[in-house]
Formats: sequence, structure tokens, C-alpha cells
Amino acid sequence: MHLPTLLAAPLLAGAVSAAVGGPGSQIEQQARAAAAAPIVPGNYIVEFEDGHDTQDFYNTIAANASRKMDLNFRLFRGASIQFHAPNETSATDATAQLAALPAVKQLWPVRQYRIPEHTRHWVANVSDDPETVKRATADTFSTHVMTQIDQLRAKGITGKGVRVAVVDTGVDYLHPALGGCFGPGCLVSFGYDLVGDAYTGNNKPAPSGNPPMDCNGHGTHVSGILAAQQGSNTFGVTGAAPGVEIGMFRVFGCEGNVNDDVLIAAFNRAYEAGADVITSSVGGPSGWSDEAWAVATARIVANGVPCTLSAGNEGSSGQFYASAAADGEGVVSVASVDNTLSPTLFSKATFVDTAKANTSFGYTAGSPANWSSVTLPLWAATYNTNTQTDLCDPLPAKNATNDLSGYIVLVRRGTCLFTIKAQNALARGAKYIIVYNNVPGTLQVDVSAVPGVKGMAMVTADQGAAWIAALARNETVTVAMTDPVTAPKVLSNVNNTQTGGFVSSYSSWGPTFDVDVKPQFSAPGGQILSTFPRAQGSYAVLSGTSMACPLVAGVYALLIEARPDLRTNPAALGSLLSSTAQPNLYNDGTSRRHPNLLAPVSQQGAGLVQVYDAAYATTLLSESSLSFNDSDHHVAVRNFTITNHGRTSVVYTLSHVGAATAYTFLGDTDIQPAQYPLTLEVVDAAATLNYTTSDKANGGDGTTVTIPAGQRRVVSVSAAPPTGLDATRLPVYSGYIAINGSDGSALSLPYLGVVGSLRSLTVLDAVQTYLSKVYIGRSSPNSSVPVPPPTLRIAPNTLFVLPLRLPPGQQNLTDAQQEALLLANHTTSLVQANLNLVMGSPLIRADLVPIKLCPTPASSTAPSSTTTTVPTPTLHDVLGYKTFGSIEGFPVQYMSRDTFNATWDGGMADGTYAPPGLYKIVFHALHIFGDLTKPSDYDIVETDPFRIRYLEVPTGSSPASPTGKAVPKMMMRRQPLAECP
Ligand SMILES: *[C@@H]1O[C@H](CO)[C@@H](O)[C@H](O)[C@H]1NC(C)=O
Ligand SMILES: *[C@@H]1O[C@H](CO)[C@@H](O)[C@H](O)[C@H]1NC(C)=O
Ligand SMILES: *[C@@H]1O[C@H](CO)[C@@H](O)[C@H](O)[C@H]1NC(C)=O
Repeated sequence: MHLPTLLAAPLLAGAVSAAVGGPGSQIEQQARAAAAAPIVPGNYIVEFEDGHDTQDFYNTIAANASRKMDLNFRLFRGASIQFHAPNETSATDATAQLAALPAVKQLWPVRQYRIPEHTRHWVANVSDDPETVKRATADTFSTHVMTQIDQLRAKGITGKGVRVAVVDTGVDYLHPALGGCFGPGCLVSFGYDLVGDAYTGNNKPAPSGNPPMDCNGHGTHVSGILAAQQGSNTFGVTGAAPGVEIGMFRVFGCEGNVNDDVLIAAFNRAYEAGADVITSSVGGPSGWSDEAWAVATARIVANGVPCTLSAGNEGSSGQFYASAAADGEGVVSVASVDNTLSPTLFSKATFVDTAKANTSFGYTAGSPANWSSVTLPLWAATYNTNTQTDLCDPLPAKNATNDLSGYIVLVRRGTCLFTIKAQNALARGAKYIIVYNNVPGTLQVDVSAVPGVKGMAMVTADQGAAWIAALARNETVTVAMTDPVTAPKVLSNVNNTQTGGFVSSYSSWGPTFDVDVKPQFSAPGGQILSTFPRAQGSYAVLSGTSMACPLVAGVYALLIEARPDLRTNPAALGSLLSSTAQPNLYNDGTSRRHPNLLAPVSQQGAGLVQVYDAAYATTLLSESSLSFNDSDHHVAVRNFTITNHGRTSVVYTLSHVGAATAYTFLGDTDIQPAQYPLTLEVVDAAATLNYTTSDKANGGDGTTVTIPAGQRRVVSVSAAPPTGLDATRLPVYSGYIAINGSDGSALSLPYLGVVGSLRSLTVLDAVQTYLSKVYIGRSSPNSSVPVPPPTLRIAPNTLFVLPLRLPPGQQNLTDAQQEALLLANHTTSLVQANLNLVMGSPLIRADLVPIKLCPTPASSTAPSSTTTTVPTPTLHDVLGYKTFGSIEGFPVQYMSRDTFNATWDGGMADGTYAPPGLYKIVFHALHIFGDLTKPSDYDIVETDPFRIRYLEVPTGSSPASPTGKAVPKMMMRRQPLAECP
């Protein structure tokens, strides 16, 4: 979707931040908070037109903004700029001017992305304990067996000569399994630290000049999945393509986030460094392919370099929750499936019960872990190993006879937070707790927030059941724990029979809001053993689409070595992987409710990649997937081409396998999409496909197409969506066109479509869209008068005393002076707009509608300063409203479905200020596929009326600044003293 460039008005700052999305599927796990990439106030990415002088641009911004980063690349010529005083919504009419400059092609607000969330199962603390050394010779890594990497590796294909760039947190290149060095001849042979250790996303990136070392861990894990060197490491960890050269482009400091100007720079540096594949396990919910980073990435793909990005870990948010930049056109969005094995590194300890003396077992230390020389009997609140709510409620109160201080409390995982279970054990005197799992594997359980707990650990479900059985037999089970730092370690690979091979419950669902098929395909990302920084234990098991993505980058490298003719052909490589991928059944993570139904394409894409089949396929499809769009835009016929690269003529037979149809909404009147797996409903309903082929023209029925060796034929497909569905709940149907050749080839082409109208969906939830009041002033820097808490929804006619603003061109005050201007009154406040977007919106306006203005003193317009007259806005018509126009910070484009808020201090998008008065704000949120000139294509929410005036500074007096210097008088803006209206 491309919007007309009506947005000549600047896309301005405003503190837009995302709120937390849906709950994780297992609340006690590390939070996987959904977070749409927030806009960074006052920061913009500008792309220049080719051949235009950019000096006029820099001259124009000079007074108000500074150049933050040059984005001077072959495929992206521009810059990121930052307006001064970022916490004032300070950009003035300069942004409007600059958008209109001939040199400016596009202008986007900068967005911020987090270090990818992943679940950390365990981190090793390895010194080469001989007991754990396993030096495999053949590649038997389960994730490689799942994806046929082992079969290509057996043929000697390792990705030799392929340069794979990784955009991530850096890499511990000194790790023995990652080559042990940086630079030419090393595994990590190229790359760049774009940001330095101190970068947080809220300061200026400072390239360190050093190789891109990792102080987080994420990038080291990702790099090992791609190319860890076998034979030199403790656990036999081997990467998908150990023959590649890695280029690490570091975009995160040790803490904090990354802005997309840095990401665009990193991708373009990687491209110019000659990367054959670029991979990045970074992203955030978006759903729009026109975001700056998605556009820049799509451009690299269009220039011959495949880019693989993780689909996102927001599966719980349901459908239509694609991530940037994975949602870019032609960009490969990688979904995650769970590993068939749950590799777990246990610390060894022993126990004694009546039947067994000194039996050893493995545990995963939690936090805290003061287990050294703790030997105590076990106690359990219940002997029911199916209990869902063990220790979720308080136990009977502690008394003289039921004290648990002499026990280790054994408790089953489930339902409530680990900290609740710990508190309930603690209330009865316990200090040591062992949790037994309710799913395969173990986790590092952190209850360090609960004071009093000395030791926390987790054991497997099986170990827990064995102990409970012994306790139920009235046996005493005495556990002799060990210090996890020094305890011997053992790697155990438990079969994951519950979810192994199925899409991970956290993997984000597509499609995009334009009904582009996302994700493309899936790879193992759940429970992945790989390298970790030496300082953090050297090896770890993590879960996330972050872990699936580098495996697919490795798969691309193998495929490029196997098919060098396709090296610069991302579309062909992608369609080979897509057509040979293996779709799997639907599994909601807990039970297989639909044992015969394939998982929707919006969840698994083409399915699990099978790289050996892709490497040797002699039939190529021109497409990776087909979208039939929604009912309003239903595409009658889609064409694709089959090319027979084999040596003989092949007859291909077309057939169809439907996948589960997934309802976007649970109920008819719902506007908030259903959560997965809680309320997302799938049904067995498939489209009916019809084909037209050249064989049909010769009397065939259209289900076959005969293609001589070396030739190609077009197949036309039409899809009649499934019938009997409830269109108001927006079902997404999907499936696979199976293409079986007489030569034994078996390919499939995924497709999807939507029944119902995306354009008619509510995007803005009126009930949860409102104004609140945020206090910002203080009576003095050390005042004990607390700043009042923010209000929730304001009462009608609430008064806001907005902070004093400085006239344009006079903003060169010191921080202390600026601070002083805000201190005068602790009731100073900002208007906070809270919006709940239940669906993505391509455009959101916020226009200020005056109801009654204050009388203006004849001598001056208000607000004004003694030296500068700030123009009062003029009334004009916006979509049928008489308004002063957009408030600063709006309009905003391409918003994901999430709540967000923006604070406002009276500034208007055109650089004027709203005069004191009584107002309402009218929000317009454009529908998906909406026409931005049609009021009926917007959701419209009018706020309660509210009053504004500005902080009063009496003429002639200057507030004392904390530095003791008086703030120059000319900086004061005179306000009418009378409160009005
Ligand atoms: C302005 O921003 C700076 C840096 O982010 C911060 O230290 C300061 O407290 C902010 N001032 C106000 C009034 O919010
Ligand atoms: C102590 O509490 C237990 C329940 O935990 C109860 O069965 C027992 O009777 C109580 N003993 C006394 C002395 O109150
Ligand atoms: C365990 O001991 C209790 C009382 O000490 C007794 O009531 C119960 O029957 C015993 N259970 C078994 C399985 O021996």
C-alpha cells in the first residue's frame, strides 16, 4: 500500500510510546511483552532525491536541528536528524519546510526497537568438564536433522565462500567455537561496531572503532546457530553453515534499544561490504511494509541480497501482527518451530530415598542459588502430579508443628507466578524450593525478588513425578544439593513429544495489513543450544524467532554454495525453500485439538524449511506464495510459472491441501483480535481452487500441466473462498497448492486470503481513546511536594496549565535555565492523548477544535513573548471539522495495532501555538485500505472538552534558575493572568 504524499505537513514528534500488549502464554515465564516500535520524539530519517543538492536541506535545519547520522549509501542516500530540546515537542515549522524541500524524497519519524526478547532456559558455566565433552563427527544436531542441513553437510556443503552479515548485539569472536579471532582469515572476518558500548537508543551512536564484541549475549548465540565450529567445543554445538564468513554489524550497546536509523545504516553497510545474505533477529510489531527500515531492507533484497528477519515473538497477540522489517516486500520473515529435543544442561546432585541410595539427578539452578551443602528432605503440598495450581494459594498458617524450615519444598510449575509459589512456601518457613516442570525441559527460575528465599532450582517433570511417588509411599527423600557453580554438569537431550516440530506458541502471526503473506517459512527456534559469551558461561539454550532466523540465513548460505547460479537471486532462492518446505499440523502448544488440520499459512508460512530438497529441486516456481487479498479486493486469478530444469519432459499434477482457517476475532462484535491460543479459533474450512493450464487448452481438465525439459508454463489459479464462514469475524483461509511431477518431484505453494472487509474494520477503539493529565512541574528542584500522579481519563473542562515554551530561535538556553522555566509551579501539566489502536492504521490525525477562546489582550496575541510574536493558528476545515489543524506530533503514519500515547504542550504541527481557551481534540484513524480524503473511511473520536492556559510568568520577574542565574527576561512569554475561559 502506498499513501499519496498528502502528508506535506510534517510528521512530528510527540512522545509516542507503545504500551504492553497481550500477556504471554505462560505468565511466569520471562515476559514477552509486545511492543510496537515507538516513535522517537524529534528524530527523523530523511531520504534525499537523487541528484539534488542537499546543502539547502542542511541550511534549513541548521537553526533547529542537528545531523545525527549520515545515511550515505548506494541504496539509501539521506540522514537522520534530531531537533533540539527533544522533550519539548520542539520542532517548529522547520519540519514543514523541510518536507517541502526539493531535495527531500521521503521523511519518516525514527522508530525504536528493543533487544529481542527471548526465553533463557539455561546458561552453562562451562570449564571443559571431560564428562560433558561430546565430539560428534557427523552432524546429528536435531535442528539440522529437522531441516535436512545434516544431509547437505554430509555432502561437504558448509556455505564455503558465502559472506553472511549479522545485524545484532555483536559477537564474542574470541569464543573458541566462533573462531577465536576477528578479521581476514577468521570465522568472523568482517563487520563493524556502529554504536559503541554506551549506546541506548536515546543517545548518539558512537562507533568504537573496535571489532564488534558482544556484551549482551544475543548476537553470540545467533552467530553460533549460523556457523559455530564443531569439534572444538564442549557440547558438539555446530552451526548450520560453518564454512561461511560472518560479518557482524553491531547495533546495540550493552543496554537499551536501537533506532531504525542505525538499523538502516547497518543493513546498507553490510550490503556494501559484499554480504551475500543479511540476517537480523531484531524487530518489533508493525504490519506495514512502508516503514523506513522495511523499505530500506526491501531495496537491498531487490538488489540481489536475501535478507532474513525474525517474524517476532508476539504469537499471543493473534493474527495481523507482523513485525518490521520482516514485513518488507520480498524480505524473508522467519517463524519458529520447537526443537524436537529439549537440550538441557543440568548441575548434578544426589538424593537418597528408601529404595535408592545416593542416586544422582540433574537440576537447573534458579536465582538465588545458595545450594552449597544443603541436604534436606523434600516436602510437597500435594501428591497429585497433575495439579495445576500447586502453592498458588496460601497454605494453612504456620504453627509449632508444621514449620517447613527443615525441608526443601517441591512444587509443580503452573498457573501462578513462581514468586507467588515461593511466597507461600516462605510463609511456612521454607527457604529452599525445587520446582518440577509441567512441560519438557527446565527453566532458570528467578525469584530473587522474594526476600528470604535462599535456593531455587528446577527439575524435569519426570524427576518431580518420581519424587512425588516416593513421598506418596511415605518414604523420606533426602536431597543433597550442590553448588551450581562448581557442580559437575551433564547435557541431557529430552525428547519434546508435546510441541517438537510444531510452530512455537510465541511465533508471531501474519499477514500484513495489506494481506501480504507473512511469515515465509519456519525453522527451529524453540529450545536451541548455541554459543554464548565466555563471560556468561560460553553456552546457552534460548528460545525465540531470533534463534530460527540465523538458521535460515545458514540455509541460504548452503543453498548458495549448492546453486551458485542463484547467488544474487533472492526470489528464486526463496521460492525453492518455500516450495520444498514441509507444512505441519496445527498444535496450540498444549493439546492437539485438530489432529488432521494443517497450521494456517498466517502462522507457519510455507512450513519447515527442507534445504536438501531445495538444493536439488529441478522444478522452480516463480512465486513463494500467493495472496488472494480480502473480499473487497479479491483477486480473481493469480498466475505463477513452473519451470522444468530437468532433462526430461514432466507432467505436473496440481492438487490442493487446505489448512486451518483462523478467525481473527472471537466474537461478532469484537474489535480486538483474538489471543493465541486462548481465544483464537480455527475451523476446518478450505477454499476451492481452480486451475487453468496449457494442458487444459489441449483438452485437459486443468489439473495437469506438461512441461518439456528446459521450458516453463504459466498456471492460473482462482480461489473460491470457503463458504459458511462468519465474515464479520474476519476469517483468514489458507492452504497449499501441491505440485507433483511425474519425475517424483513434490512441491507446494502456500496461499492465503481473507473473508470479509479489512476496510470496514474498526481501527480505533473509541472507549479506550481519551485524554489524561500528566503533571511535570515541581515547586523547586528539591521540593518535598510530590508531583501529583497522572490522572486517568480527565473530567470534562479540566484545566491544563501548560509549561512555558520558548519562541523559535531562542532555544539556546542551558539545561538548568530550561529546567527553571518549568519549576515554577508543580501543577504544570501536559495533555496526554491515549489511543487504543485495535487494528493497524496507515494514518492518524489529531486536530484541535476550538470551542471558546480567551479574550486576547489588544496589545498581543497569546501566547507571545515580549520579543517574538508567535502567530495564532488560523481556522480551517479538516475532514469536516473547523480546526486549528494538527497538534504537534501528528499526523502519524503506519501505526501497528497497539495502545500508544503522546503528550502535548500546546504546540501545533505548523509551528504556531494554541491560544488559551476551551478545546476538544478530534482523532481520525484511517481504516486499512481507506481513502484518506473520505471522512467515512476514518474512525473518529472526539475528546472531552478541556481548557488550556500557559504557565504564568509575571512581567519583570525571572524565576531563579538552579544555577543562580536569572533567566533572561526576553525568554518569558506573557500570558493573560486571568484564568479563562
Ligand atoms: C529533558 O530531557 C532531559 C534528557 O532527556 C532530562 O534530563 C530532563 O529531565 C528533561 N526535562 C524535562 C522538564 O522533562
Ligand atoms: C498446625 O497446622 C496444621 C495444618 O497445617 C494443622 O493440621 C494442625 O492441627 C495445627 N497444629 C496446631 C498445634 O495448631
Ligand atoms: C502413610 O502414612 C500415613 C500416616 O502416617 C497413613 O495414614 C497412610 O496410610 C500411609 N500411606 C501409605 C501409602 O503407606
